[in-house]
Amino acid sequence: MILLTGATGYIGSHTWLALHAAGMRVAGLDDFSNSSPEVLRRLAALGADVSTFAEADVGDRAALDAVFGRWQIEAVVHFAAWKAVGDSVARPLDYYRNNVGGLIALAEAMQAHGCKTIVFSSTATVYGQPRSLPVREDAALAPSSPYAETKLIGENMLHDAERADAAWRVAVLRYFNPVGAHASGTIGEDPRGTPNNLMPFVAQVAVGKRAKLRVFGNDYDTADGTGVRDYLHVEDLAEGHVAALRHLQGGAGSLTVNLGTGHGVSVLELVRAFERASGRAIPCEIAPRRAGDVAAYYADPALAERLLGWKATRDLDAMCADSWRWQAANPDGYATV
Ligand code: UD1
Repeated sequence: MILLTGATGYIGSHTWLALHAAGMRVAGLDDFSNSSPEVLRRLAALGADVSTFAEADVGDRAALDAVFGRWQIEAVVHFAAWKAVGDSVARPLDYYRNNVGGLIALAEAMQAHGCKTIVFSSTATVYGQPRSLPVREDAALAPSSPYAETKLIGENMLHDAERADAAWRVAVLRYFNPVGAHASGTIGEDPRGTPNNLMPFVAQVAVGKRAKLRVFGNDYDTADGTGVRDYLHVEDLAEGHVAALRHLQGGAGSLTVNLGTGHGVSVLELVRAFERASGRAIPCEIAPRRAGDVAAYYADPALAERLLGWKATRDLDAMCADSWRWQAANPDGYATV
């Protein structure tokens, strides 16, 4: 059984289905602090066994002990964390407690129960402003927000645990920009309040929930002046977790890899692709740059391919088409029902 923390979140829910498709049994854990119980009904409709779900905070050691006591957990895929950069600047201590404290409780519970295999959800934000592109895993690390710091601390903590006890197997996955939704349109990204990220904002403009997209800067040193990112389909990302888990369970050593496509896409390119996929116009207005944004970053994903045999296969049109299918069928996300 694989323990999935943050199991009803955006990436967690897609990973649940990917693990299920790979024939692995999943025990899910989530406190619904940034997700909905409706996700479980959707996962069940898509064939997942959700009877093995526990509602709990990952920082709750007693709840973790109960989970490890109840099911034979061989490995953990750890998503449960907060991820809003701006929010982390405003509430840093909450982020350290939730993200770092949660991982400490989890790793201690794992150790106590003899489970030492973990796939850890990290972020490309640990690189900060990249010095050269594409970004390789050996690039300088320069986290520039409390959120990014919590992820880098998590990476270091797990590496230190492994240095002390070689039985640990750790896969650190540094995601670039996950977007899109399950191809069925049944599950997807459901941000609370105003979306911070580009794709969910664009999707909400397309469906008529928001009047227009504000493009944060068109004077960057990029081909069309707008910010360039490495958008990655969430189903490819979910499959990356399955590959990492298989790698660790096959007895191979720990690793730290980027998960991205290796292709940079500008804000305006993404908007055009979404217009094609949805058949809707996306009104845009050029706005000032957003504080803390970098002009461009995209992954060198070669190491993930070499070590895991994993490569993103879904293109920008598929990302937009799947995001649109989800948004059109669920204009208010999981609150639609
Ligand atoms: C952001 C986070 C990053 C996190 C990632 C998750 C910041 C500074 N970084 O990255 O830590 O891992 O999300 O996917 O918040 N844009 C607009 N208008 C909008 C929203 C975004 O023009 O309304 C632009 C941004 O300026 C950027 C691009 O779209 O050029 C992508 O933005 P976003 O989706 O927020 O991702 P990141 O900034 O890369």
